[in-house]
Amino acid sequence: MSGFHYGGDYNPEQWPAEVWREDVELMNRAGVNLVSVGIFSWARIEPRDGEFDFAWLDEVIDLLHAGGVRVDLATATASPPPWLAVKHPEMLPVTAQGVTLWPGSRQAYCPSSPVYRRYAARLVSAIVERYADHPALELWHVNNEYGCHVSHCYCDVSAAAFRTWLEAKYGTVEALNDAWGTAFWSQHYDGFDEVFPPRAAPTFQNPTQLLDFDRFSSDELRACYRAEADIIRSRSTVPITTNFMGFFKPADYWAWAQEVDIVSDDSYPDPADPLSPTYAAMQRDLMRSLGGGKPWLLMEQSPGAVNWRERNAAKTPGQMRAWSYQSIGRGADGILFFQWRQAVAGAEKFHAGMVPHGGTDTRIFREVEQLGTELRELSGEDGLLGQPVPAQVAIVFDWDSWWAIEQKASPTAIQYLAGVFAWYRGLAAAGVTVDFVQPTGDLAGYRVVVVPSLFVASDEQLDALDAYASQGGTLIVGYLTGILDKNLHVRTGGYLGTLQQTLGVWVEEFAPPAAPDLAALGGGEPPAVRVRGEAVGGEASASLWSEYVRVETASVAAVFDGGALDGHAAVTRHARGDGTAWYVATQLDDGPLGALLEGVLASARVDRLPVVAGVEFVRRGRILVAINHSEDAVTIDVPGTDVLTGASASGLRLGAQGVALVAEA
Ligand code: GLA
Repeated sequence: MSGFHYGGDYNPEQWPAEVWREDVELMNRAGVNLVSVGIFSWARIEPRDGEFDFAWLDEVIDLLHAGGVRVDLATATASPPPWLAVKHPEMLPVTAQGVTLWPGSRQAYCPSSPVYRRYAARLVSAIVERYADHPALELWHVNNEYGCHVSHCYCDVSAAAFRTWLEAKYGTVEALNDAWGTAFWSQHYDGFDEVFPPRAAPTFQNPTQLLDFDRFSSDELRACYRAEADIIRSRSTVPITTNFMGFFKPADYWAWAQEVDIVSDDSYPDPADPLSPTYAAMQRDLMRSLGGGKPWLLMEQSPGAVNWRERNAAKTPGQMRAWSYQSIGRGADGILFFQWRQAVAGAEKFHAGMVPHGGTDTRIFREVEQLGTELRELSGEDGLLGQPVPAQVAIVFDWDSWWAIEQKASPTAIQYLAGVFAWYRGLAAAGVTVDFVQPTGDLAGYRVVVVPSLFVASDEQLDALDAYASQGGTLIVGYLTGILDKNLHVRTGGYLGTLQQTLGVWVEEFAPPAAPDLAALGGGEPPAVRVRGEAVGGEASASLWSEYVRVETASVAAVFDGGALDGHAAVTRHARGDGTAWYVATQLDDGPLGALLEGVLASARVDRLPVVAGVEFVRRGRILVAINHSEDAVTIDVPGTDVLTGASASGLRLGAQGVALVAEA
């Protein structure tokens, strides 16, 4: 396709055939050129074991094709039909508490179940056989949101699969005993057959068992994906995706991203949360980064309110459009929704659709139509489609650390993502675009690399961070980094491991404040820690964390202010090889974090985007995208022309949710 993809999930099986024709007409009117079909169609395609009914789907896909709408065809394996559970109840998932999850909802399958996988494979083969050569086919959509509801299964089938996975990893049970530290609490195993998934237990479970189970669970879901993708690849060259869910804890998307032809993402920021635009921007930057900078697809967003929050705020006028351009600015080549036509039955009937219950004479449909028209008119020549998004700063993101740091047996209650988001917010406020990276990724091209709480790190990862700094980079390391190795064993000799040489400090003791205020990470609540020093803007607030840092060869840039750590280092700076390595031993609040970043970004000569309160700027290709997320009109002043309107962007007024795509002069 030569333009942006535009469309949504299309569930024709929920509607009589007369509606399908009107759907295609309305899709044309709305500028829709791609729809995802069949995501929840298993029971309709295979109503009885081995009996396939494709007649209706043939008709739907032919109608779409005749109307010029391309198809993102699902493998339909996301929700097994009731007959499969009746025939094979052993394929149902079981929670850690031993509760079986039954049909009547969706996603009721154990990812490790050979029965589920066998039936899924047969279904996928039948679908691929039938449609691989259909001219409407644009993309394959494997399953749906892997792990969304059932990411970990604790049934006996999963227990057996976990043992197989452990045996492949460790070889001998003694190696497992060493890795898991089972000398503790009489946990020693005499054989793999004694090992269970971490089912509900009296108290703290073995941390390495928990981490391995997280790794295993992500791998098992990925094996389901891979099995389906392999079937497709054996018969079709059409690209394959499966829809991610942003910062989704149960699936290590660094590994997953290797297996998809194009990254796609589902994103549902809460319109009622003022931090949503920034959080959503962070999610989009992750998606671009997972694909190594390649264009990605916004596979699902809501045209209005969702139905699954406690309170489901509507999007304000223009907000859907503004957030869509945010995705485009951050590397998306397509904007799709859940879902095309708002349902009249089922659990999602109060979830907005592109064609609402009220029909086409509605605000939502008009906004959908307007965006479709605009995207149709924007072509590759405008300099957005397919273009890269340059970033000079990277944040290290790591699923092992996320899983491990949030275990109950950690030094204090930490929310990994909140710590990452604090750095992201500071960088966004400073006019900096961010990529996400793995510690052993290609860091050399970045002027600054931030490492928030890399709690679990291999020697290789610590060495890579050191090499980055030594070779001239500016490294910022946050608290609780380099504490544990990949088996969750403590790196002794003072915390930080080999980063001690990089940073010129070591950490002697953790001292989290007595009443850490997690809410403070989002701003607003009084801080529990104070720091002082020019690097953080004088006397400043921090929260959540402090520790006793022993300074060796670093210089102290800020100290703790008051309390038992009064006068001890809170922020340090160290010359390492040709570069600089900072250590930050607390969770700085937004103000001091911004002050610190100002200094670091200036000395690392990081290019900055314009900064206007309430306005997000991001550069893609030769376009500077400006989005006013505030409720007031703002004026931007960029030399160039808005390609949407042809207006000059010098002194351009943007109303609430206004967007300008500025071709810079
Ligand atoms: C997810 C699913 C969709 C739908 C939406 C509702 O993204 O993939 O099927 O349930 O949520 O927001």
